[in-house]
Parts: sequence; C-alpha cells; structure tokens
Amino acid sequence: MADRTLVLCKPDAVERGLVGEIVGRFERKGLRLVAIKMLTIDADLAARHYAEHTSKGFYPELAAFISRSPSIALVIEGTEAFKVVRTLMGATNPREAAPGTVRGDLAIEVTENLVHGSDSPESAEREIAIFFPELISS
Ligand code: RTP
Ligand code: MG
Repeated sequence: MADRTLVLCKPDAVERGLVGEIVGRFERKGLRLVAIKMLTIDADLAARHYAEHTSKGFYPELAAFISRSPSIALVIEGTEAFKVVRTLMGATNPREAAPGTVRGDLAIEVTENLVHGSDSPESAEREIAIFFPELISS
C-alpha cells in the first residue's frame, strides 16, 4: 500500500475559500485523496491531535484558532506522502516559507498557516487513527 498521511485544511483555509486551491496543489502533484471530511475540532480533539504541544506557550492561541470554525481533514496517499505534503506546505512560519509553497504563497501569520501535515510516518498513523478511525482495520 502507498504511504498515507493526514492533512488538515485549518479554519482559516475554509474561511478564506482556499480549500480547493490547497487540495488542488496536492492533487496536481500526483497525490491521491483517500478520505475527506469536514469537522469542527473541539478542545479534546485539539489536545489529542496536538499532544506534543499542549504544554507550550503558544498552545492556548493554537487551540483557540483550530477550534474556531470547521476544518477539512483528509487522508492523502502517495510515495513518501508525508514528506511530499510537508514540502508543498512550506515552513511553519509563513513569512519564512518559500514562494511556491502553500504557506509561502497564501499566508502571513504563524498561527493562521492554513494547513497541517503529519511530520513522520508514525505521526501519520497516529493522526489518521484520530480523525478517521473507520479506516483502521482492527
Ligand atoms: P502543523 O503541526 O500544524 O502541521 O505545523 P508544523 O508541523 O509546521 O508546526 P508545529 O511545530 O507542529 O506547530 C504546530 C502549530 O503551532 C503553531 N505554532 N505557533 N507561535 C509559535 O511560536 C508557534 N509555533 C508553532 C503553528 O500554527 C503550527 O502550525
Ligand atoms: Mg506539526
């Protein structure tokens, strides 16, 4: 099976009408959509998804942002999918993200950086199980 990764189009992407632009970039690259859903991420889900960040100073701002309106969650498939997605996303801080990347082209603020992508195959497995438990065979 090809590698799978978890992508979120964050609330700012939905609010700004950029979901098609962002997902289109992944599709045009040659990655395939496996699953997609719209959901509002509540405080519990935010804490599970961003478990590694809950003790950090920026977490309250991140948690408030990620839960303020609906997100689009996707499972995306392709060779080294997590790495390809992260490359297309660009650096975490959009002001440092390269032109040609989602964040480099379309965002300015570090919190409102439009998109999330798993940072390793292990993270992808954990995050897909959180957002798409129905895809995990027992
Ligand atoms: P993400 O998990 O959302 O894909 O982003 P990332 O891997 O590029 O960055 P990560 O280090 O995992 O941080 C998660 C999100 O927290 C916000 N953040 N703010 N103010 C700050 O210093 C700061 N650092 C990180 C960003 O919105 C980042 O996407
Ligand atoms: Mg991250």
